[in-house]
Amino acid sequence: MARPEQRLGLLSWGLLAKCFLGSGLLLTPLASANVLQEGGERFSPVRSSGGMVASQEAEASRVGRDILRRGGNAVDAAVATSFALAVTLPQAGNIGGGGFLVLWRPDTATAGAPLLEGETRVGRGRAVTINFREKAPLAARADLFLAADGSVDRLKATRSLLSTGVPGTVAGLVLAQRRYGRLPLAAVIAPAIALARDGIVVSPELAASLKAAAPRLKADPTSAQLFFKPDGLAYAPGDRLRQPLLAATLGRIAREGEAGFYAGPVANQLVALMREQGGLISAADLRAYRARAMTPLIGDWRGHAVIAMPPPSSGGVTLIQLLRILEGFDLAAMGLNSAASLHVMVEAMNLAYLDRNALLGDPRFVAMPLEELLSPAYASRQRARIQPNRHVPSQQLSPRAPGLPEGPNTTHLSVIDRDGSLVATTTTLNFSYGNGVSVPGAGFLLNNEMDDFTSKPGVPNAFGLVQGEANAIAPGKQPLSSMAPTLVLDPRGGPLLATGSPGGSRIITIVLQVLLNRLEHGLNLASAVATSRIHSQLWPDQLSHEQGLSPDTLRLLQNLGHQLQPSRAMGSAHSVEALPEGGSLGVADPRRSGSLAIGE
Ligand code: DON
Repeated sequence: MARPEQRLGLLSWGLLAKCFLGSGLLLTPLASANVLQEGGERFSPVRSSGGMVASQEAEASRVGRDILRRGGNAVDAAVATSFALAVTLPQAGNIGGGGFLVLWRPDTATAGAPLLEGETRVGRGRAVTINFREKAPLAARADLFLAADGSVDRLKATRSLLSTGVPGTVAGLVLAQRRYGRLPLAAVIAPAIALARDGIVVSPELAASLKAAAPRLKADPTSAQLFFKPDGLAYAPGDRLRQPLLAATLGRIAREGEAGFYAGPVANQLVALMREQGGLISAADLRAYRARAMTPLIGDWRGHAVIAMPPPSSGGVTLIQLLRILEGFDLAAMGLNSAASLHVMVEAMNLAYLDRNALLGDPRFVAMPLEELLSPAYASRQRARIQPNRHVPSQQLSPRAPGLPEGPNTTHLSVIDRDGSLVATTTTLNFSYGNGVSVPGAGFLLNNEMDDFTSKPGVPNAFGLVQGEANAIAPGKQPLSSMAPTLVLDPRGGPLLATGSPGGSRIITIVLQVLLNRLEHGLNLASAVATSRIHSQLWPDQLSHEQGLSPDTLRLLQNLGHQLQPSRAMGSAHSVEALPEGGSLGVADPRRSGSLAIGE
């Protein structure tokens, strides 16, 4: 056995011990593999012996953590964090938008209660989703955004009040909390009310975001008043932003539930704005809005159940299609972010987006061949279309005009509680600050989700998605989404992961890569989230990539026929993981600052 002095050569053992024992590192003689106790990976998740909340804004994550500490469960914490985000992250957190929530609860937390509508057994527990996507107003028609010459009026589709779908967030959060929360609704909304009433300290991120959106927000007198100082100047980091009108609206919701939003003064203010300024949402639209519990789609990755959002999100269908196609490749052997693995992933993405764009829509309006799309047989046929040595140009898969993507905001949060219940929820106004218009007297911004519909078949929307008739506008219909809040179980049926992301059409491929990095390539959660991402969506026919891929890899991909497109950072996938021995891990995606994963 070699003694430490011999193994260290010229350095004296005593000297090293002095350096490192002082810094708290424990040196064991013979721990030759890792005497410095360095981590195996360059990124480390946050660790907790209890639950965890990971969201885009630190104050909102702390709200969720406090709710867990006060005995709330994962749903209480997720709902509290979501309402807090409506105050602290006005660009994406919202009560004027919509979203989806996916929940899994272990049997130990449900005590054999009968299955409720939408619940399904998965692993050693049960899963459910809540659909609170916006709806087209009853007065909306398929040609809503077409100009007289037949072209799509992009301003109408994204900036006008016509771009606003009937908001779903309040109905969704209240339904989730009433069904599954442990604390009173008022208790989980109270922190958001306090933040709105007493004010938040404007972070550098919020100051920068408001400044960037100033032209759009100032175009609306109500938004200008809410988000700028009385003299019109922008808030600087460290200033206090108070939102008393939003506090009052949140107070009504805390006291009255959905009725505090979909009826009474808040509803009246929203409808009056629509009537005065050419919007379509009526009192009847608001009264009729219901969030719905829906059965999740269950996919699989090498023995791990993947619990995902069904239509009207394309998130689950497209993610599960991708996993099914890709399970036929040994991606681990090909290597993480190698040209070979990225090539097959891109080819699979194009095939899956072809189906997404042509076939998917709101299930209450369109029939979709979901069983076939998700079947292993269909996946093998799709897999056989992937050429190992050549990119198949999009034109050969679908002869459509390429679209130009624009810039976007949405926000995802993940929670795990002490019982192992998992929540993933993604909500959105569509663009940052939605259409920029706020409801006078009620203190909140409106979404521009109607742009997620197909305004005209073949013409791209803001995310460059070239979609078809299945996603055409119709009264009461929900626009197809790409949001993909997703949960994963371990092969024994216990809890493992909750993840999801903003990013428009890229959300699905971002979630795919987080799952593959963690489950196939064996990275820890933090590395799985941090690793450079790529994206392809059929049209435009290009492989977008973040910084961090090797130029050698990029050259190999080019040689296979891929058009490369360097991209800004993709998404923000705040994720949590259950530890087998109890406790949890969390990671706030480093791509957007201001976020926080925080343990109970
Ligand atoms: O539902 C959707 O697919 C889009 N409205 C999401 C928008 C989005 O993620 C923008 N954020 N970066």
